[in-house]
Formats: sequence, C-alpha cells, structure tokens
Amino acid sequence: MSKNSTFKVNGTEYEIADGTWAGSRLVDFLHEQQLTGTHVTCYQGGCGACIVTASIPDPASGLSQSYSVNSCLVPLASCAGWEITTIEGLGNSHDGYHVIQDTLANKAGTQCGYCSPGFVMNMYGLTQNNPSWTEDDVEKTLDANICRCTGYRPIVEAFKSITPSDIEDSHLARCSNKGKKCCKGKCSKSSPTGKPKEAKCKMIKPPANDSWHMPLTLEELYNIVASIPAGERYSLICGDTAQAVVGADYASSTTIFTRSVPELAKVNQTADKVIFGANVTISQLITHMKSMSASEGFSYLGHLAEMWHHVAGTSVRNLGSWAGNIACRIAHPDFPSDLFPHLMVAGATVTLGTTDGSTTTHTMEELLGIDLVADRKIILELTLPKMADNVVFRVFKVSARSHNAHSYINGGFRMEVDAATTHTVVGTPVIVYGCINTTFFRATATEAVLAGKSLEDQTVIQAAVEALASEITPDESPLEPNPAYKVAIAQNMLYKTILGIIGDVASPDVISGATDLVRPLSSGKQVYDENTEIWPLGKPIPKLEAHIQCSGEAEYAVLAPEMTGELFGMFVTSTQGNAKIVSIDPSEALGMPGVVAFVGIDDITGENNINNQTWPGVPEPLFPSDRVSYYGQPIGLLVTEGRSPAYAALGAVKVTYDDIQPPVLTIDEALQQPLPEGQPEPFVQGDVEAGFAASTTIVEGAMGRNGQYHFTMEPQVCIATPTDEGLDILAGTQWASETQRAIGQVLGIPDNQVTVTVKRVGGAFGSKIDRCNIIATAAALAAQKTRKRVRVSLDFDVNTTLVGWREPYVCTYKAGVNAEGILQAIEATLTSDSGYVAVDVSSGGAAPIMPSCYSCPNWNVKPQFVLTNTANNTWCRSPGTLEGILFMENIMDHIATAIGMDPLEFRRKNLMPDGSSRHLNRVVHRLRHAMAGNLNAKIPREVTIPNNLISDMIDQLMVSADVDARKADIETFNKNNKWKKRGLAVMPQMWPYMPPSVYPFSCMVSINCRDGTVMVSHGGVESGQGINTKVAQCAAYELGIPLEMVAIKGSTTHTNANSQCTGGSLGSDITSFCVSTACKNLKDRLEAFRQTLEKPDISWAELVNQAYFSGIDICERYVNKSDEVKSYGVFGVAATEVELDILTGQFLVLRTDIIEDAGRSMSPMVDVGQVEGGFVMGQGLFTTEEPLYDPATGQRLTNSTWHYKPPLAQDIPVDFRVTLLQNSPNPIGVQLSKVTGEPPLVLSFSVVMALRQAITSARADGGTTGWFQMDTPLTVERLQRLCLVDPSRLVITS
Ligand SMILES: Cc1cc2nc3c(=O)[nH]c(=O)nc-3n(C[C@H](O)[C@H](O)[C@H](O)COP(=O)(O)OP(=O)(O)OC[C@H]3O[C@@H](n4cnc5c(N)ncnc54)[C@H](O)[C@@H]3O)c2cc1C
Ligand code: FES
Ligand code: FES
Repeated sequence: MSKNSTFKVNGTEYEIADGTWAGSRLVDFLHEQQLTGTHVTCYQGGCGACIVTASIPDPASGLSQSYSVNSCLVPLASCAGWEITTIEGLGNSHDGYHVIQDTLANKAGTQCGYCSPGFVMNMYGLTQNNPSWTEDDVEKTLDANICRCTGYRPIVEAFKSITPSDIEDSHLARCSNKGKKCCKGKCSKSSPTGKPKEAKCKMIKPPANDSWHMPLTLEELYNIVASIPAGERYSLICGDTAQAVVGADYASSTTIFTRSVPELAKVNQTADKVIFGANVTISQLITHMKSMSASEGFSYLGHLAEMWHHVAGTSVRNLGSWAGNIACRIAHPDFPSDLFPHLMVAGATVTLGTTDGSTTTHTMEELLGIDLVADRKIILELTLPKMADNVVFRVFKVSARSHNAHSYINGGFRMEVDAATTHTVVGTPVIVYGCINTTFFRATATEAVLAGKSLEDQTVIQAAVEALASEITPDESPLEPNPAYKVAIAQNMLYKTILGIIGDVASPDVISGATDLVRPLSSGKQVYDENTEIWPLGKPIPKLEAHIQCSGEAEYAVLAPEMTGELFGMFVTSTQGNAKIVSIDPSEALGMPGVVAFVGIDDITGENNINNQTWPGVPEPLFPSDRVSYYGQPIGLLVTEGRSPAYAALGAVKVTYDDIQPPVLTIDEALQQPLPEGQPEPFVQGDVEAGFAASTTIVEGAMGRNGQYHFTMEPQVCIATPTDEGLDILAGTQWASETQRAIGQVLGIPDNQVTVTVKRVGGAFGSKIDRCNIIATAAALAAQKTRKRVRVSLDFDVNTTLVGWREPYVCTYKAGVNAEGILQAIEATLTSDSGYVAVDVSSGGAAPIMPSCYSCPNWNVKPQFVLTNTANNTWCRSPGTLEGILFMENIMDHIATAIGMDPLEFRRKNLMPDGSSRHLNRVVHRLRHAMAGNLNAKIPREVTIPNNLISDMIDQLMVSADVDARKADIETFNKNNKWKKRGLAVMPQMWPYMPPSVYPFSCMVSINCRDGTVMVSHGGVESGQGINTKVAQCAAYELGIPLEMVAIKGSTTHTNANSQCTGGSLGSDITSFCVSTACKNLKDRLEAFRQTLEKPDISWAELVNQAYFSGIDICERYVNKSDEVKSYGVFGVAATEVELDILTGQFLVLRTDIIEDAGRSMSPMVDVGQVEGGFVMGQGLFTTEEPLYDPATGQRLTNSTWHYKPPLAQDIPVDFRVTLLQNSPNPIGVQLSKVTGEPPLVLSFSVVMALRQAITSARADGGTTGWFQMDTPLTVERLQRLCLVDPSRLVITS
C-alpha cells in the first residue's frame, strides 16, 4: 500500500486502511458513511445509478482531471489521491440545490427518482471534464444511465438547457469561500480533526491480506511481478471494470493496481505513428484520437474514435483502459472485444515488457498466443501507424442496442484502393471480424478474392461474399444471434464498405447501403391546456419530491441505514428447473463464519402460501415442498452477518435433486400438454361463423410477444424488524395491506402484529404488487426465527431470475372482412405463459379488450394460459389491456395488407360509432372485486361509450404531425433507397379504464391547528407515477389553500389499513378521489363553522385553530364507496416514423407524435411524463428486451445488464411530441380527468407497425410481397432476417 493512500469524498479526507480488500467497492464505502444518495441497481457498470464524479490525478502530468465513474466498479483501494464528489456534495434541501439538480427536478426529469442521482452526477462529470460541452456532448454522455420511468426526453432536455455559466453560478452560490475566488466545488468540509479518517469498507472486507499493491514506477511494478513465485497467478488492474464482465478472483490472487505508473500513461504522436501507454483510458483515447485525426495520415483515428463511443458507456470508458480491454480478449477468447478487432484492422502493434526490463513488440494476431500472466508480461504501449491517403479504413459494430451493448458482430476493413483504375484493391486488403468464434479474426480467403481486383466488378463482389460465407463459422449460443445472421451481417459489412468506396459508381438506389444510421440531436414538444382557473389543481408542476430525488435525499427501503446487529438474508435458489428435491442440507454453511441461520420450509409457522387476496383460490408456496418448478426458485434463506458471509456460504448449502425433467420454457412446448384447469371464460359476441360467411376476405395468422423484465431500478427489498408489538416491515410493495396479510398468513400471527410501511418505491410497474411478498415473507420469517432485524434485498441476477416478468403471449387468429373493408368476424386464441403457477394471469382480461376503438359485430376470443418451468410471471404495466389492443392492431394490419388498403384508411372505416356499447371486462372486474374481498359482486355486462373521440383525434394528428405529406415523402424515399427504409404508422386506441364498483383506498387528511398546514396519508404507493403530486394538488384545490401547505406522508397499514393495490392505473385516480372528497367534507365543516363566527373573513390558519378549539374535528378520513369511481374509455393516438438499416437490422425512431386523452389533467407535467415513459418502456418491450433461457436447465440467461437491454436515452424517438388532448374534460372522471399510467405504453406498438412498413418495402424490393408474421421483440437480428436480403442482391448497379 502506498504511503500516500488518502482520498477525499466531498472534501472529507479518508485514509485507505491497510489490508483493504481488492474487492471492496467505493459505493459500499459511501453507504457505510451514510452517503446513500449514490444508488445501486446492478453492480455491473450497466445502469449508471451509482455514478459519482472523481478528480483523478494523471501520473504522467501530475494534473487531476474530473470524470464520472461507476462507484460500483471502483475498488476502494484504488481511490488514493482521488477527490470524489457524490450527489451529497452538490446540493440539498438545506444548503440549496445545484443547478443540475434543480433543472432536472424542474423539468420533470425524475419520476421514481432512483436513477436521478446517477444522471445528475454523470452530467456533473461532463461539466467538470469539459468546460465547453455541447448539446451533442450531453446526449453522448447519457449513453449508459438507465431510467425506466421518464422516457429520457425530459432528462436530455433538462441537461441540454444547462450552460457553462449556470454551472459557474451554481458553484458561486454555494461556495463557502464566499467573496473570494470560487473553488469550483472543492471547498466543502475537511475532516474536523484535520487528520484523515480511516476508510474501511467493513461490509465486504475479507480477512486481512497484503495482496494489494500500488506501484508508482514501472520498475516497482516489475519488481512486484518478479517477486511473485513462478506459477502463481496475479492480476494487474487499471480501471478494474472488466471484472463486471469476465469476473474476478480477488481472494486468491495478488492484485497490482497499475494506474499510478507514469510510464503507462504516456501519449505521443510523431509524424508516422501515435503511441498510447497501457493505462490510457478509452475516453482519453477517443479525445486524443479526435484531435490527432487532423494530422495527415491519421484521419482514420477519427473514425475509430466515433465508433468507440459505442464501446460500453461514458463512465466505464472513463476508467477502462484499452490495455485492459485487449488483455481481456487475450485471456477470454469469448469476450466480445471491440477494440481488439478494430486495432487489428488498423495494423496496431502492442509492446510488452518483462520483469527484466526487456520489451517485445507484437501484432494483434501474435498477442493471441501469449499468456500474459504466466509469461509475466506487462502491456506497455500501443502503436498506431500512419495510413496513406488512398487507404480506406472502416470499422463496424452491431449490437442489441445502440449504446452500452457488447457486439453481436464487429469488424473492419483496411484496403489500399486505386480510384483511378476502377477502384482496384492494391495488394491484399485486411478484413477482420470479431465475435465469430474464439479463433476467427482474419477473413483471409475473402482478402485473397479481393486482392488486386476491381471493386466495381460485380463478379468480384459476389465471389467475396461467397468466400466470406465459406470461411465464417460462428459459434452457436442461446445468448447469441443465429450464426446465419452473423454470416449475413459479415457479408453486408463488406458490401457497405465497397459501396462507400465506389460511391457514385453505384446506382443511386443502393448507395444508402454505404452509410450507417446517424442519430440527429433529439428534440421534443409538449402541449397541454393550462387551466389556470383551477390551479393549483391542473397546474403543470414537477413532482413534489422531484428536488429531494435529484439530490439523493429521497429515502428508499433498500438504502435504509444498516443498524447494529442487523442480519442479511440471501435466498438459496434451485439450480434445476424441473426436479424433485431429495434433500436440503445447510449444515456445512451453518458452520461457516458469519452464518446465523438457515430458514426453510420447516420454519414456516403459518401457511406455506404467500397469496391471500392476490389471486383468490390459488396458493403459491414461499418454499417448494416437493419439486422445484423453475431454475432460481427460492428454497430457503441463509441469514448472515452482512452480505459477504452469505456469498461465501451459499455454495455450501447442499441441495440434491432427483427425477430431473427437461424444463418447459415456451408456450409452444407447454401447449403440447393438456391445458391446466381454471381457464378463463371466452369473450363471445354475435356469431363468428355468420360473420365469416359474410366475409369476402378471411385472414389467418399468429403473433408472439415475449416477456419483459420490469427493470425497477430499486430491487425487491424488505427489512423486517421484531419489536415489542410484533414486526415492523419496511417493504418495497405496491400493496402494503396484502404484504401485511401475506406475512400474517405465513408466520401464523395476527395482522395487527404486522405494521408495513412504504414511503416510496424506486420503480414498480406491477412487479411489487405481489411478487414482493416472496421477499417480505422470507424476511419476516427470518426475523421471527432470529429475533433480529433482517434485510433481504435482491442482487440484480437474483431479481431477474427469482421474480417473474411480464407474461409472454401468443395470439392465433382468423378474421373476416367484407368487400367494403368492414370487419365481419374475429376469432382468436390468446395464450399467456403464466410461469409455474396460475397466479396473476392476464389473458382472461385481454380477450374483451380486443375491440379497442373498433366495431365488429362478431367475436369469439378464447383466452387461455399455460404453465411453464419459469418464475411466476406477473403483472407488468398494462397487463392484458396491452395484449388485447396490440393483437387487434396486428390483425388490422394483416387485413389491410390482404385487401390492399392503406392501414389507416382501413382503421378509420372500422371505428366504432358514438354510443357504442362495449362488453365490460368482467374477468378483470371479478378479479379486482375478489382482490377487494367482494367475491359476490354483481358485474354489469356492458358499458356505453358515449363519444368515440378517436376519429377527431386522428384528424388532429394528421394535421399536427403532417402525416400525409410525410407519408408521401417516405414513399419516395423508399422507392429511391434499397438499403434504408422508412415507415410511418398511425395507431389509434381505446384503453378501457376498469375500476370495479368496490375497490377501497383509505386516506387521512389532517390539518395542523397551529399553522393550518395539512398532512395527507393515503393508501396508494408513490412509485414514480406522481400519485402524491396529484393528491396534493387535489387537496390544495379543494381546501382552497396554497400547494406548499400540503405535505404527503408515507403510507402504513396502520393509518391506511386495508387499502387496495396501487396498480392498473387505479391508485392515483382513486386516492385523488378519496382525498378530494375528504377535503370537501373538511371544507364544508369548516365553512359551517365560519358562518358561526362574528368575523367570518379570518385567515385559514385562524379558522382551523378556532375550529379545533371549538371541538371541531379538523382531520378527515375517507374510503371510496361503491361505484363512486367510474369506468370509461381512454383514447390515444400515435404516429411513429422509423428508419431501418436493412443491411444490419439497426433502426432509429425518427419521430413520434402522441395525442393522449387525459381529460382535464390533474397534473399535466406528471401526465406527459407517464405518456413519454410508458411509450419508451413499450418500445423496449417490442424491440430490444428479450428473455433467453438455457434450454437444459431452464436458467434465465438474460440476468444481467450485459445481456438485457432496455432503451437508453439515444434510443427514444429523435423528435418526441406529446399533446394532452385539449378541451376535453371527462365528465365522469375524478376531477374531470382520465388516467395516464398505462394506456400510453400500448401506443408504442406503433413502432412495430412502422417497422412493418419499412420491412414490407425491403421485402418487396426482393420480390416478396404480402403479409408476414412478426413476433416481438423485434431485435436487430429479427428485423434484419425479416428483410430477406439474399446475398445475391448485394449489387452495385440495379
Ligand atoms: C458495462 C460494461 C460494458 C462494456 N461494453 C463493452 C463493449 O461494448 N465493447 C468492448 O469492447 N468492451 C466493453 N467493455 C469492456 C471494457 O472495455 C473493459 O472492461 C475495459 O476496457 C477494461 O479496462 P480496465 O482498465 O478496467 O481493465 P481491468 O479491469 O483493470 O483489467 C482487465 C484485464 O486486463 C489485464 N490488464 C490490465 N492492464 C494490463 C497491463 N498493463 N498488462 C497486462 N495485463 C493488463 C488485467 O490483469 C485484467 O485481466 C464493457 C465493460 C463494462 C463494465
Ligand atoms: S450499480 Fe453501478 S452501474 Fe449499475
Ligand atoms: S425516475 Fe428514472 S428510473 Fe425511475
């Protein structure tokens, strides 16, 4: 350990303790210092929640430079000399907010808020790293922060609005050097004693060891390596980011942290080469290469720099070195390095040093044969040569998502080309592909075909693509695209490169194949009524909690401070998907240090069933008694003193299995078995056979829609604390009273001994309605057994494996239409995959939703569910409603294609007239009644929709989105371009809002008699949707007081007993109703009292004071009564335009316009946020997010941020416009509003519809016309394969 091993966090100095374990992470240390504003979601560098800013000294220059870094990746021991700023160092409610926090909050860039500190710190890092950043820099920097709630538009817009002088002013405003020169944020407190505090990270600190070394010179580094006994392994680390990808073994190896070695930090450019020391980070490379590219012979560096913006995300690149990247590729042949093949194309060489001081220089190919550690080789530097002007250099990367996604395939081309002689290749070109298999890089056969040949010769091109197909043999893996796709992309990359070289020689219609998609700067527009007459209701304001969320002050259960003696619970989960449990033996684990208890099925003192009112009649065990039904199923809980002992002991719990059967993983496989009992009732109307008889065109088809991980940024969590009254439960739940009941039921204790508190959750989307009760009941059992406070919070891989996702679906259908294009009959089967138990099934609810905003006289829709060996799939934002509508839209597109009618015209012809009646969704109503304990409720059959607003809304959108003109442009574009295609689709919908007659939420409104301020607690749960903001606006409006006088308190099962679940868009609506009613009652009471006063014009505060001391209750409770909150249709329409790269399957959403019917919005900024966030979540569902399994064990393989890809900021519509339908109050809605939480998500199907148009055009170019099945997600692979690009079509003249 270096003597100078101190670092600062927000100005406080710490000293790194001797023996600090190499695996101790900065974020855990921060949490131990109670700096919990830095959040954690993945621990993998893949989400950005943990970003802090660090000023890091450069060992060569001695100067410090600021960077955003992922504190979940940073080894604590590596922080020596760093000055770290966390979100707490920027600003807070007490001292004032930093401009970045303030702007993000004010511009509605935060919903659940769990991602917000990471975004703020990433932006802060940019401002500190680059004082003259541009809007483009802002967008590029937000390339790895995940926000599941907002849809990113407001975040991007907020940050782009911040200028350098704003940052300077913000520092001045908060600088404690007031009046003197501003220190730019470095003036905060130092340690009170003047001595540094010792930095230890007890949470994951292992037994003392001296395996951590931090050499300060190359000689020291050599000496340390030389001292390691021959044959012993060690690890050199620079950024230590690679452990998140390839794993690490800190315990057994010597770790040598090389970042402080100045010789490895050098950067040098001469006339004929550039040299980068091993520790130059990828971010630094990009910066240097951009400026070096201006020099003659080095323009290709600019191309590399541009491409490497797609390697990892900014905060990983800020620490990750090029040497670390290529060393990973050398040691792990399956690591999909981008740098390695790209550097190989560039003809780079790498110099290695040995402990005796000697050096050797190698080509990239030569490096592959070297075992760096065994041979004691240190990577010293990278040399990149000058390239002649006539050398063409091009590199590629195709991945699941545009940014922060590893390559499916990458590669590049270096060719000397003589343009004067029909673009003849001079000598042998260099053609490299990565991610093919563990040994393949150079396409030598293809190189030989092209050597000395003209690129204008079509026969040469054909010979080259054929040679590629013969020499490329991609490995197969369930996590990788199909080998045929990789071969096709390899061929298409070559074709793109050739088109780029020959330029005008190619026909104009194919030249679009030469370029990659370039995303322009994004923009947005939001339109809504001001409704100033009702303010503060309807006032566009940011969420109440926006500022504390952006400053990291907002409290979440998972970040609750650890208490002395607190224990940690980690699930022991099954490693088989379908097997009998023979035995579970925790005895070895129980003997290990720090292990306190094992909680298993025998510890259940009540009923082994976590469902009470969740899904009446179907029990769901906490732990299985006989067989495991899916890989990752919890079979017990290890209870330990901290996390580390749990990780160590997990493998020591011996579980033996018998009768291991192949897991059933898909709907198709499950349909080979008889359907389980308890299938939902069909939706039948009219006579489909008569309808088909009246039809002139009948289509039949199918569509699959796979599942979706909810991806809440706060994981599933529960902290159970035994008290003298029973158990206090701090839970991440959307339904506190069901969590209370589930715990009472499993523990066999009365509900009044269980108090559940929930202040807010960091995202929910349905995953915390009942799935949270697996975690909550296990934590409670462990607390009961140990009599200690027990915390269970799931790691990302466990959260993704143990907890069910959105149900996968398959729809098969038959639909008939008459000669006028009027729908006659629809017959469909909707099959959902419920997972291993039939709980939270949505298909029954999906069936009656299918009519959406259309008319059809005859329906027969059969909903059904199947069981598979997967986790119990569950509700996910708009369950059932989404499927009903999307499958209908798919049918509408199918019929339009079959009859050759414009899809929008066909839709318009079939819109339901005003006054139509719709079948009420009796399945959902019955379920919700049952959830509310009302099993015998009478449910009406039909509901009348007085006005179908859709027709007018489409008209409006046609104008505001300029649809006709753009469609004409697209037609021309598609006619003129073979390899880029566009599509523009308009999707209308009617989303049925379905509160059952009885669905009670309780609320409590309390006025304080001293100052008249108001406290509201309601039974809903704030999960980012803005429930508290709407409720507060209602309260202030009804009481006639300023909004600032209203505070919303967290919900508990004591103050808001028996409240229903916050889901189905019901929570905000019903709680707003209850609070409005309670406030009206209070107001009436106070008004009556005012009339009795001699001076009735007294102030509000005096009024409530006098009322209270006159014996009048100034608190009010309200629980909604039967039928007080009504059903209605929510209308929405979207127009989405996409551009698809036919040769790769990559696409851009160029523009989306949405008109959403929010009635008279209670809170327009909140509602716009729901529209944008819902749409982008849906876009992810339909495009990039794909669940994949190991077919042998049933393990969910997409269990990390490395493999699971929700949209990022640069994936959203480039131009994103949202209008809340104006002048359209909803006469039966709460405060004349309509709900917005779920419906807009469904409109994201317009992306699929637009992609269909683009693909249809591409297929037509190849001679294939007509309908084709499109299952989602439409990954880049699926999209490209659907385009049917045969290699014979890779021509240069058409
Ligand atoms: C979330 C995430 C996304 C990523 N996405 C991509 C991507 O899209 N494309 C891509 O190509 N990569 C990607 N990466 C990998 C990333 O580029 C590497 O993690 C990074 O470059 C490694 O650099 P490092 O300094 O952190 O290496 P470290 O983690 O410190 O070290 C990695 C390995 O290199 C060895 N090593 C380091 N320095 C030397 C040296 N001087 N001599 C010998 N051996 C050395 C170490 O011993 C270790 O084995 C991603 C990583 C993460 C975490
Ligand atoms: S927690 Fe660090 S990136 Fe996700
Ligand atoms: S606000 Fe971004 S994840 Fe919730």
